Amino acid sequence: MSRPNRFLIWGGGGWVAGHLQALLAGQGKDVHSTAVRMENREAVLAELERVRPTHVLNAAGCTGRPNVDWCEDHKEATVRSNVVGALNLADACFVQGVHCTVFATGCLYQYDERHPWDGPSFVETDPANFFGSFYSVTKAHVEEIMKHYDNCLILRLRMPVSDDLHPRSFVTKIARYERVVDVPNSHTMLADLLPAAVLLAEHRETGVYNFTNPGAISHNEVLGLFRDLVRPGFAWRNFSLEEQARVLKAGRSNCKLDTTKLAAKLAELGYGEVPEIHEAYRRCFERMRAAGVR
Ligand SMILES: NC(=O)c1ccc[n+]([C@@H]2O[C@H](COP(=O)([O-])OP(=O)(O)OC[C@H]3O[C@@H](n4cnc5c(N)ncnc54)[C@H](OP(=O)(O)O)[C@@H]3O)[C@@H](O)[C@H]2O)c1
Repeated sequence: MSRPNRFLIWGGGGWVAGHLQALLAGQGKDVHSTAVRMENREAVLAELERVRPTHVLNAAGCTGRPNVDWCEDHKEATVRSNVVGALNLADACFVQGVHCTVFATGCLYQYDERHPWDGPSFVETDPANFFGSFYSVTKAHVEEIMKHYDNCLILRLRMPVSDDLHPRSFVTKIARYERVVDVPNSHTMLADLLPAAVLLAEHRETGVYNFTNPGAISHNEVLGLFRDLVRPGFAWRNFSLEEQARVLKAGRSNCKLDTTKLAAKLAELGYGEVPEIHEAYRRCFERMRAAGVR
């Protein structure tokens, strides 16, 4: 007989992990969280033994502070978390029969001739073509291996956004930059998609999913909506991709992901429609305004 679901969030203390914890607790689910290091095999196995989850939600990862440029200078630490650790946790879950949802990244691609921003989007089976940052390189290699584990659900987030001005939210980041580029990208609205992650996990879905809202939105479009709906009078300055490259250590991925596979699966599970990204931002900023966020 199957046991009732018990969720164990890995990376407790992290931004996405905190949102998952609040969401699951709010849904009255049996939820636990841990900060055990993923690369420590014995400690991971002991934690799985202690908590006995049916589901692990892996929101742990080396993301760098203040940003992914950090990973360029700390390659061993990045590998230990994003490669050795992520695979170790997936494998430990596998041997213990635990479903493992991985909060991965869609920053594996960059626009090219076959995928211009206004052309076909990247699908889950497209090989990675962005190797401009060590962070993305580690994530792309791991996905290639991890996707063969039949207990793993790999959700590719991009430029996640929360309904507040948390420093890790995409809006907060670009609103604070001195200058921003202006490129259309796929984004993940956490309010729209984290409940979908829980649903997919509960159904023990596996495989790779582009985990963003449909469509792509440019930096200027986001900031324009932010000005119109949240912070009247807000102004910003642009610079080119070439100028941006001069102030960054690592490159940044710009791409549009195809969400057809996700939409079909969520429809099958009876999940409400995930709004197109412009509409999603409009709703997000209205929620923020209603909550008094300025
Ligand atoms: N935020 C984004 O823009 C974004 C976009 C796409 C995908 N993602 C992915 O989503 C996941 C969650 O991101 P986030 O924004 O919530 O990141 P975050 O706020 O930096 O949280 C990551 C958490 O993982 C922990 N961690 C790092 N290495 C670990 C290890 N080896 N073992 C156990 N815990 C470890 C960190 O703890 P310490 O600080 O103590 O190391 C931190 O608490 C990451 O894998 C990230 O790559 C994020």
